[in-house]
Amino acid sequence: MRIAVYPGSFDPVTNGHLDIIKRSSRLFDKVIVAVLHNASKTPLFTVEEKMDLLSQVTSDIPNVEIDSFSGLLADYVMENKISSIVKGLRAVSDFEYELQMALMNRKLNPDVETIFMMTSGEYSYLSSSIVKEVFKFNGCIKGLVPDEVIDAMKKKVSL
Ligand code: COA
Repeated sequence: MRIAVYPGSFDPVTNGHLDIIKRSSRLFDKVIVAVLHNASKTPLFTVEEKMDLLSQVTSDIPNVEIDSFSGLLADYVMENKISSIVKGLRAVSDFEYELQMALMNRKLNPDVETIFMMTSGEYSYLSSSIVKEVFKFNGCIKGLVPDEVIDAMKKKVSL
């Protein structure tokens, strides 16, 4: 069974992420979307909330599972019999950092392969932060994130 992991912060999941999840689910038997417990970023959503949103927006893709992890991705890969790490490349600016991570992950776990997928052009300028920024100042984010995410963001600001 070919298992891939698509790791990230997903604060929140955007249509750019969803595009990568959908396309990678056609290439692997199972894709685990793994939310990082990231102490270095101050998130809008908790890990549980991010996982719940990811479950909702991927409910129509049977071979996608949602999980979370902390520590090294290379260890998570080893513990879960994962053969590939899937990452999306949006622009040349992503390349250097992604190359660094892919090479470090290979050094830590020589059996793992990082597969890069080109993000669809319509989402190549997206990031979770830019979505949050636009939302904060009442800009329209429809079409950039799933509707479930817009609802969850509205609930957050009304708290
Ligand atoms: N569409 C839209 N946005 C995308 C995207 C896509 N296809 N792909 C990435 N992004 C955005 C994210 O939304 C995020 O935006 P933000 O910074 O505004 O929040 C940004 O790109 C960075 O993505 P992020 O999900 O934070 O991932 P990352 O590329 O920084 O890497 C891990 C995250 C989990 C893969 C990495 O931190 C990791 O492996 N950590 C575990 C510790 C470890 O093993 N460290 C050694 C690594 S070699």
